[in-house]
Amino acid sequence: MDATFITSAFKEDQYPAPDMPEIAFAGRSNVGKSSLINVLLNRKNLARTSSTPGRTQSINYFCLDQSLYFVDLPGYGFARVPVKVKESWQGMVETYLRTRGSSTLKAVVLILDIRRELSSGDLDLLRWLHYYAIVPIPVLTKADKLSRQKARTSAVQIGKKLSDFTQDAPILFSSKTRQGKESIWKKIRELTSTGPVSAGPK
Ligand code: GTP
Ligand code: MG
Repeated sequence: MDATFITSAFKEDQYPAPDMPEIAFAGRSNVGKSSLINVLLNRKNLARTSSTPGRTQSINYFCLDQSLYFVDLPGYGFARVPVKVKESWQGMVETYLRTRGSSTLKAVVLILDIRRELSSGDLDLLRWLHYYAIVPIPVLTKADKLSRQKARTSAVQIGKKLSDFTQDAPILFSSKTRQGKESIWKKIRELTSTGPVSAGPK
């Protein structure tokens, strides 16, 4: 599969033309959005990752096989960012969701830390997605940090809290073990029907 970085957008007029389906990746700061994108694409650091929260500060577009865009969104909820930056995040993401709309934006992969409760930012995002009729794909990441049993229990608990927004059970994922990669691809393919036939070697 061919994956290339296209652009970093801060404003609407910097988005590429909406000529291909898009899947966006959202979640709180440092949850592992960029790492997840890299695992899906079998690339080490195409979407730049960092142990410091707030690494991704713009809307980053990647193009896959000339048929699909992956969109890495900036993370929310990092306590130490100035109010101005928080507002600009909110503005950037809401403008993106509103202007892209469900005909182009086929789904937003909502990435949650399997060890944490839903945050107010997660709930705000879920409400926006609901309002704009955009499908959420909930993914619980960092599953490697819990035992299998604890991971399952946590998935059930978080799944219940998501039930107002989606009936889909959250997908357990880890960028360390790559657990869940195929399930996420399967969901993306269902929703875009243009995605790559194979996600490539494991
Ligand atoms: P921002 O762009 O800053 O919002 O962060 P992000 O959500 O893109 O997170 P990123 O992918 O940069 O990962 C943040 C940190 O979490 C890095 O140190 C990663 O190595 C680590 N990390 C990401 N996914 C996992 C995972 O599944 N398991 C473990 N153990 N660590 C992970
Ligand atoms: Mg990032």
